Amino acid sequence: MSTHIDPATNLPHAENASPLSFRKLIEILESQQAPPPLEQIYSWLENLNVSSAELQPYIRFKDGNYWRHRVCRNDQIEMLVLCWRPGHRTPIHDHNGSHGAVLVHDGILWETTFAFDPQEGLCYKAARQYSAGEVTGAQVPDIHQLGNPDVSGHGLITLHIYAPPLGVLKTYKVGSPEIDLYIPDDTEA
Ligand SMILES: [Fe+2]
Repeated sequence: MSTHIDPATNLPHAENASPLSFRKLIEILESQQAPPPLEQIYSWLENLNVSSAELQPYIRFKDGNYWRHRVCRNDQIEMLVLCWRPGHRTPIHDHNGSHGAVLVHDGILWETTFAFDPQEGLCYKAARQYSAGEVTGAQVPDIHQLGNPDVSGHGLITLHIYAPPLGVLKTYKVGSPEIDLYIPDDTEA
C-alpha cells in the first residue's frame, strides 16, 4: 500500500527540528553508505526548504511524457526532479526492491494504488491527491501510478528520492496477472 509516515513518530525529534536546505540534502544523500529507511527519506523531504530557483536547472517539460531530471545518484540512493504536463502519468508499477518518497513542489499530483492477486490480477485499491508541500511514498511491495491530472491546467513538479536507485521496474495492467518490465527513461536526466 502507499504509505504516509509521520516522521515525528519514527525518528528522534532532533532530526526533524530544523529546515534542511537543498544543498545540504544533496550532501547528505551523496554521503550515504547504505540505503536509508523510508522514514528517514520522509523526514528529509518533509523538512526540506527548496526554492524554484534552486530547482530551475532541473525544470524542463516535454511533450508526450513526463521528464526525469537526475539531481544526484550513487549506489545507495538517488534524487530526481520530474516535470509533468497535464495528462502525463507513469505506468502502473512497483519499485522492484527500492523504496522511495515524493515531495510535490508545484502543482497537483494524483496517486492511485493497486492490489495484486496472482489469480485475479491487478485490482484498483485507492486514490489520493497531493498538493505543494505534501509528501507521499511507497514501501517495497507497493504498486501505484502517479500523474498530473489532465484537468489540472498547469505543470506539475515533483522531487523524488529512491533507495536503492531505481533499476528495472515491474509494470502491471488492471485485471491482468501479467507483469512486464520497464526501465525509466533517464535520457538527459
Ligand atoms: Fe513509483
